[in-house]
Amino acid sequence: MRRVKTGIDGLDQLSHGGLPAETVTLVSGPAGSGKSLLCLQFVCHGVTVEEEPGLYVSLEESREGIERALSNYRFNDFRPLKSGNLTVMDLGWLRHELAGRTGDFGLARMDRLWEQGRSYLLDLDWMKGGPPVAEELESGMVGFRTLEAAVDHYASEHGLKRLVIDSLAAAGLYYSGPEQLRREVFRFGRFLRDRHLSTLLITEAGTGGGGSTRYGVEHFIADTHIVLGLRNMRGEFKRTIAIQKMRFSGHDGGVHPFVITENGIEVNTREYLRF
Ligand SMILES: Nc1ncnc2c1ncn2[C@@H]1O[C@H](COP(=O)(O)OP(=O)(O)OP(=O)(O)O)[C@@H](O)[C@H]1O
Ligand SMILES: [Mg+2]
Repeated sequence: MRRVKTGIDGLDQLSHGGLPAETVTLVSGPAGSGKSLLCLQFVCHGVTVEEEPGLYVSLEESREGIERALSNYRFNDFRPLKSGNLTVMDLGWLRHELAGRTGDFGLARMDRLWEQGRSYLLDLDWMKGGPPVAEELESGMVGFRTLEAAVDHYASEHGLKRLVIDSLAAAGLYYSGPEQLRREVFRFGRFLRDRHLSTLLITEAGTGGGGSTRYGVEHFIADTHIVLGLRNMRGEFKRTIAIQKMRFSGHDGGVHPFVITENGIEVNTREYLRF
């Protein structure tokens, strides 16, 4: 089985060599646990080391926020890149811009930031058609159909290999009932598999902590589930990471501590935490 390296050495060890290629991985954890950082490292490693074009779809964090976060880390070294390899799509902004508008989705805007081959595109071409997409955006929200339209556009234009959705919880807000949400989540899972993308989906952990997820259905579409934790241990917050499940493959099942440095996430694979 082909594997894709996340670029986080410790995590690649825990998964016995990387995540299974072209499968769906769920990254869950409480606020501030490092979910976005882990996923940024994943797409950055893809474009800088593996030459795999990546798309980071952000529904919560602004593009500026992501740029700011990236500039703090050393893995943000895109100089060897040809432009267009990493795309950050800020759907929160889009949602805000387009809320309440009807019809006029023909606008196309390309917004290239940063020189030196760092490329952040905001390209609305993919929104031209699709009534379901228009419906979702008119409501001021982004649902799974919008995500699919965006992904399809980039997959064909840029030969996409790695995809991050930050986060599923935001897309889930569009749906009124659990039944509809469940159906759409499953459909989305099928869509991702059909596109052969190595995907990371972010979801907040439910209040139950541990492995539970915001809507309680997300983990069914995931082949792999990575759980991040933030635990108060005698007055000090400890960050933890564990691979809770990994289809098709053996993996380390322990809970390990990690720290965040200028290199990003550094996992201590030798230390196990017991609670
Ligand atoms: N250089 C650094 N050194 C130490 N800690 C850092 C550094 N940079 C960021 N952090 C911490 O790492 C966290 C980053 O977490 P991140 O934004 O990835 O979390 P998240 O799980 O996506 O949170 P949310 O659910 O709020 O989106 C921040 O809370 C910050 O405290
Ligand atoms: Mg985040």
